[in-house]
Amino acid sequence: MNAVGSALAHGRELLAGAASAAELRAVEAQAFGKRSPLAAITATLRDLAPEQRRPLGQALQEARATLEQLFARRLAELEAQEAGHRAESERLDLSETAWLFANSDGPLARTTGQPVSRGHLHLVTQVRQELEDIFVSMGFEVAEGPEVEDDWHNFEALNMPSHHPARAMFDTFYLKAGQPESVLLRTHTSPVQVRLMESRPPPFYVVVPGRCFRRDTPDATHLPVFHQLEALVVDEGISMSHLAGTLDAFTNAFFGPGRRARLRPSFFPFTEPSAEFDVTCWVCGGLGWVRGAGPQVPGGPDEDGEEVRCRTCGGSGWVELGGCGMVDPAVFQAVGIDPERYTGFAWGFGIDRLAMVRTALADMRDLLDNDVRFLNQF
Ligand code: DAH
Repeated sequence: MNAVGSALAHGRELLAGAASAAELRAVEAQAFGKRSPLAAITATLRDLAPEQRRPLGQALQEARATLEQLFARRLAELEAQEAGHRAESERLDLSETAWLFANSDGPLARTTGQPVSRGHLHLVTQVRQELEDIFVSMGFEVAEGPEVEDDWHNFEALNMPSHHPARAMFDTFYLKAGQPESVLLRTHTSPVQVRLMESRPPPFYVVVPGRCFRRDTPDATHLPVFHQLEALVVDEGISMSHLAGTLDAFTNAFFGPGRRARLRPSFFPFTEPSAEFDVTCWVCGGLGWVRGAGPQVPGGPDEDGEEVRCRTCGGSGWVELGGCGMVDPAVFQAVGIDPERYTGFAWGFGIDRLAMVRTALADMRDLLDNDVRFLNQF
């Protein structure tokens, strides 16, 4: 076989041996590109006499064209195969799921004899329902309020007059309705406190789950649409120790024994005094550092078993769940309740945050992707 013939054979062999599109691309240069025997022979052309050069040049050109065609055909084949595998592994026929869901006890289930998936509630809904159950069992009532709010309920009555710097805590979506900046998507569930207290006299033992909105850029721990659980307790003789005791009872009921809660001084315009509510970190168990044997989640231990700072809680051993405090007398005044007679406590927790802590979830955005392979785990 002449040199061109064996260069062609070499190229064919390389192309035929590639098992994937990526492998095929990786051998392209050696088969007929810069690093191929064909290229080496081409480099010798200029030293030849014209009558030898022409037939050899033509043979080289034909060999290269053959290999190029082979490459293109094989690439198309491999890519189609790979796309097929990918589609098969990610196959998700929503119409089928919808049909099965509607007929889960129906004819298909009976005729195929296959177990038929009914689907299930979203993780956040499950956590929300569990929270409602816990507080109902403690004697609380469950209330709701509107997601589109006015300035009075979301800010003003909560002791945040317009241009008050505390409003900067909430990056707000305003709606084009009424006066500018008077109608908005509620930034927290706290306005429902105001609506409740405007609607009837104390006492109140109420929790309020609901969706909230802020102009936040989504990241691992923030979503522009999220959920809170508000609590409002107003009665005669309510003190901060009732708040602490209720939070302790909640922590035990929701997380089980072994996890502790703490209150840390903070500021909210609608409570005085105010605090943040933290629980012990789920990755390091409150130590602030982790070693080889902890849960294998991002933020978890490094593989070599060294003691390392826990990335989930930043080494503090605590994860923040929400804010709380004693209802500010200014809020009572705004809704016409006598602050000399009544006192109360309130809090607002992130429900999505609780779902994350409970399931050791690394990225809150997974909750919204609607990928059933993720959701089916819960
Ligand atoms: N509304 C606050 C927020 O979204 C959380 C909060 C703090 C709610 C203290 C309360 C409270 O009821 O008393 O940041």
